[in-house]
Amino acid sequence: MLRYRPSVSLLRQLHRHRFDRVPKMPARGRALLTSSGVIKGATVSKLFEKNTVCGRVTDGRTSTLTPPAHNSLTLAYPFLHFSSTANCNKMEPWTQAIDDICWQQRPSAVLGQRDLQANPYLWFPDGKLNTCYNSVDRHALTSPNTVAIHWHSAATQSKLSVTYADLLTRVKDVAGMLADYGVKKGDTVVIYMPMILEAVYSMLACARLGAVHSVVFGGFAPKELAKRIEDCKPKVILSASCGIEPKRVIEYKPLLDEALRISQHSVPIRVIYQRPGQAQAKLDYQSGDRNFDQEIERIQHESKAFQQCVTVDSSDPLYLLYTSGTTGRPKGVVRSNGGHAVALRWSMDYIFGLQKGDTIFTASDIGWVVGHTYIVYGPLLAGLTTVLYEGKPVGTPDASVFWKICTEYNVKAMFAAPTAIRAIRREDPEGKFAHRQDLSNLRALFLAGERSDPVTIHWCQQLLGSSKQVIDCWWLTETGQPVTSTCLGKNAQLFSIKPGSAGKPVPGANVCVLDDDGAPQDNPNTFGNLVIKLPMVPAAFTTLWNNEQGYCDSYFKRFPGYFDTGDAGMIDEEGYVHVMSRTDDLINVAGHRLSTGSIEEILLSNTSVVETCVVPIPDNLKGHVPLALVVTSGKVSNNIKQDLVKAVRNDLGAIACLDKVVVVARLPKTRSGKVLRRCIRDMTAGNPVNVPATIEDATVLTDIKAALQKEGLIPQTKAKL
Ligand code: COA
Ligand code: AMP
Repeated sequence: MLRYRPSVSLLRQLHRHRFDRVPKMPARGRALLTSSGVIKGATVSKLFEKNTVCGRVTDGRTSTLTPPAHNSLTLAYPFLHFSSTANCNKMEPWTQAIDDICWQQRPSAVLGQRDLQANPYLWFPDGKLNTCYNSVDRHALTSPNTVAIHWHSAATQSKLSVTYADLLTRVKDVAGMLADYGVKKGDTVVIYMPMILEAVYSMLACARLGAVHSVVFGGFAPKELAKRIEDCKPKVILSASCGIEPKRVIEYKPLLDEALRISQHSVPIRVIYQRPGQAQAKLDYQSGDRNFDQEIERIQHESKAFQQCVTVDSSDPLYLLYTSGTTGRPKGVVRSNGGHAVALRWSMDYIFGLQKGDTIFTASDIGWVVGHTYIVYGPLLAGLTTVLYEGKPVGTPDASVFWKICTEYNVKAMFAAPTAIRAIRREDPEGKFAHRQDLSNLRALFLAGERSDPVTIHWCQQLLGSSKQVIDCWWLTETGQPVTSTCLGKNAQLFSIKPGSAGKPVPGANVCVLDDDGAPQDNPNTFGNLVIKLPMVPAAFTTLWNNEQGYCDSYFKRFPGYFDTGDAGMIDEEGYVHVMSRTDDLINVAGHRLSTGSIEEILLSNTSVVETCVVPIPDNLKGHVPLALVVTSGKVSNNIKQDLVKAVRNDLGAIACLDKVVVVARLPKTRSGKVLRRCIRDMTAGNPVNVPATIEDATVLTDIKAALQKEGLIPQTKAKL
């Protein structure tokens, strides 16, 4: 229904008027406002009608088009350009979603620009807000008795439910404690904690102060923790006495002490939460150790709870989260406040179809992006109830635990890694545990972190029945939100699920396939590099901590104008995205992203190892596990393999799950010296091995094949050379 069709001159005026605010507008965008008034199929009048274009237009003739004041955002050039790329509604969610966030100052645009050629876009520029206010305070005002978090610890057999009013009190206390140590806006704080409530209070307390938290996964060894401490230089570290793994208790304090001993950066204050009834940490108060509970008591006693929320800019960092790159140096992904808040709040409704009163259970760890996004910030920004689960999918005590949680807390949406589901299936193939529970409120199971194989999807679907959706969604630490998914919100475009694909791009994500030379592969089902055409989704990272050059080089240099996801796959004729493999040296073990480069670095630190190459090999449970080929020299210990396995556990962490080490005489290389990892990967996956013409000596592959066959690492297929 078109109510108004602006004239060409009016369009030109509008164009000039708005875009004057964006100095660095690429020239090609200007051509998009054509004399026909049509933006690739979507008339401008239609866009106005939907309030998707709304500006502070002062010209007499255009003023009738200005939307209500509460919605008067100036849309900068990229909006129009982007609207035209595929679907004019793509930007619509953001103009509406922006109103679901409380701003101290409303952004001047949905999308603006910044002075960074590689990725010149900035979401919600000039907005001012506080993410803690949006996640806690405002819900404590309107629904104080709603449960914000159900903490369910299978590891310690304890439970606690925290209302929004309780949460606000706790967060104010922790923020008061941090402020008392001098933590202020822009300072960094490391959180190295297991899945306990204090970890969530700590994250939100940082957000309250405008400080930047960096949560480090508890499974990382001291050296990895030290790298993160050195890079982000925290003023304070918050930790706990222990984490509880099924086979052992992990005492955090000795790990933290060791990390600080290695690190060049010293941290004056370390606050340790002593877990009741569990291992207690030895604290050295003189050197700066503090007891979390005692400090909170002191803050309460001294009335130092931090009452206000510090206003930050939309583009100010909320958190950094280190993730594996292709080298041993982790990358500090920086998440800014504005885009994150809008996108996550929106996603709870649009992607998950959840409303106030609903509960989401995300079975991840707060040390990973999924934990940040869908255990903590997403649900809380939307005023929902979230489950914080400490335990495993199996063995704590058995494969029934996920389904029991769904029943006990009336969970409407569940989120897990395919590995977790495979573990449950292995223990309970007929799904007897699930059938014994009342899952009537469960609407959908979301899977991410690694590819969901169709067998796993079908098993879940059969188990849960056709009334529930089993949804694979694809995203990365860098994007901070799903890039593809089936969306369940009432305004979402519904389409059926296709097992093996990760769904279709969510609004705002323009996913494309490029060949290695950067040429678009528009023919359906053409395999290539999966990229996102800029601008990226609103929650996406804005830079790498202390490493803007690395940000530009790693993600935007190879394919200018696109974000290189590092994944390979294809888009089929119906627009479904199939994510098949990594194009780089990252490995995904049980949904944990690790760098083969960092494993190689550890192996090379053994003086007997002269060369090594680590590749992912398929694993029925964990998706992939690492295989290390090593070339040794000199006097080699009889225990070389065990030594190397131990070194990786000590230096990276047990989560690397390296237990396959094969000693070989040589590695396959090209004449320029590049190790042919892909050939080994293909061999171990049972795929035909494509031997490049540039190989230095093809007989090396024959020797390696024999060595791998001896170890039972080549599947019983025809892996032909
Ligand atoms: N702190 C310390 N150590 C940890 C840890 C943590 N937070 N998490 C894992 N580890 C250790 C384990 O204790 C284990 O050590 P071990 O070799 O000495 O036994 C090792 O790391 C490997 O652990 P894990 O990957 O949990 O393997 P598992 O064989 O013990 O359990 C599964 C198998 C399937 C149950 C488990 O891998 C799992 O729950 N996977 C899902 C993970 C997930 O949700 N990923 C998504 C993140 S978005
Ligand atoms: P992380 O940054 O730890 O979340 O890991 C991101 C990587 O995990 C992606 O680049 C993919 O390789 C992989 N991944 C995540 N979700 C999916 C999915 N649904 N399908 C395939 N791969 C996925």
